[in-house]
Amino acid sequence: MSVQVNSFAKINLGLCIGALRPDGFHELRTVYQTIALHDTLRISVVRGMGIEIRCPDSRVPRDETNTCYRIAQRAMDAARAKGKVIVEIEKRLPVQGGLGGASSNAVATLLGLERVIRKPLSGPERLRIAAEVGSDLPLFLVGGPVLGTGRGEEVYPLPDLPPTHCVVVAPEIGVSTPQTFAEWDQIERSGGNAKLTLPSASDRISVFGRTVSSWLSGASSRTGVPGSGVPAHGRGRAETPLLDLVRTGIENDFEKVVFPKYPELRQVKRVLERQGAFYASLSGSGSTVYGLFGSGSAAQRAARALRKRKLSAHATTTLPRQQYWKMIFG
Ligand code: C5P
Repeated sequence: MSVQVNSFAKINLGLCIGALRPDGFHELRTVYQTIALHDTLRISVVRGMGIEIRCPDSRVPRDETNTCYRIAQRAMDAARAKGKVIVEIEKRLPVQGGLGGASSNAVATLLGLERVIRKPLSGPERLRIAAEVGSDLPLFLVGGPVLGTGRGEEVYPLPDLPPTHCVVVAPEIGVSTPQTFAEWDQIERSGGNAKLTLPSASDRISVFGRTVSSWLSGASSRTGVPGSGVPAHGRGRAETPLLDLVRTGIENDFEKVVFPKYPELRQVKRVLERQGAFYASLSGSGSTVYGLFGSGSAAQRAARALRKRKLSAHATTTLPRQQYWKMIFG
């Protein structure tokens, strides 16, 4: 038996890097948001044993370094199931792009496998297995807007937000996340430079927490629930809670290391802003840069302008939690 699973991408709405922890990970805070761009996976279990990854894209590993491989192994063990798992990946999301493609593929494998072997794992068990495989996996077990804490693997669903138009630009640059964290540490150790004087890690984390908390309480003070589509602060402003969130000034700390290294990515952000994005940012450690737009036509126009510059640009929308779960199995 086999099932087809849509494996959606995420963007980060702000990402704050905190202290380097004794376990080698960094404390972080971020708001993840799932978007409608996706890879498609087919998960099958046949007679035999082991795990086989099939993907025509040569950048995707087929061995145990593949997140799908690692999660399939753990899921089969946890469910005490037998058979050979085949994971076929139709890749559309960028590899090492900051959209969580590999992490999302792994969660899609887990969900697909549970269906095929008809042995659903408990919610906490799924989250444990996902977190073991990588910090960016558990968010895909929640979907919609998600608060990420710890090393990013502690996830809390945030009140849903209405779909927002979004342009995703994926330059052909693969950014290594561990390497970018290491470069961040170097900047911190050297005490910053003239352009970059960072507040302490714990101060940054506290500021991010206060910002998100006050957005949540501010946005809910009038409407009851952020994401209800009603303007957050009234007085006729046709603004969504998402706009309120990005207006708090949340930023992605990775821009401070990635943009100086790849100035063309800063340029993409500027083009998105010039094209009318109400917010533009690097996603994760990049190299994907996205912009949020007030209308579908503005998003389409911006995507066209970027494609004229020979960049791969897609107009899409953010994916609220309910739609995320509805669309996972097609
Ligand atoms: O969890 P994941 O496998 O995605 O992490 C890959 C690497 O990225 C880690 O080994 C670590 O070097 C770095 N990382 C980090 N802090 C985090 C998440 C990842 O330093 N919060």
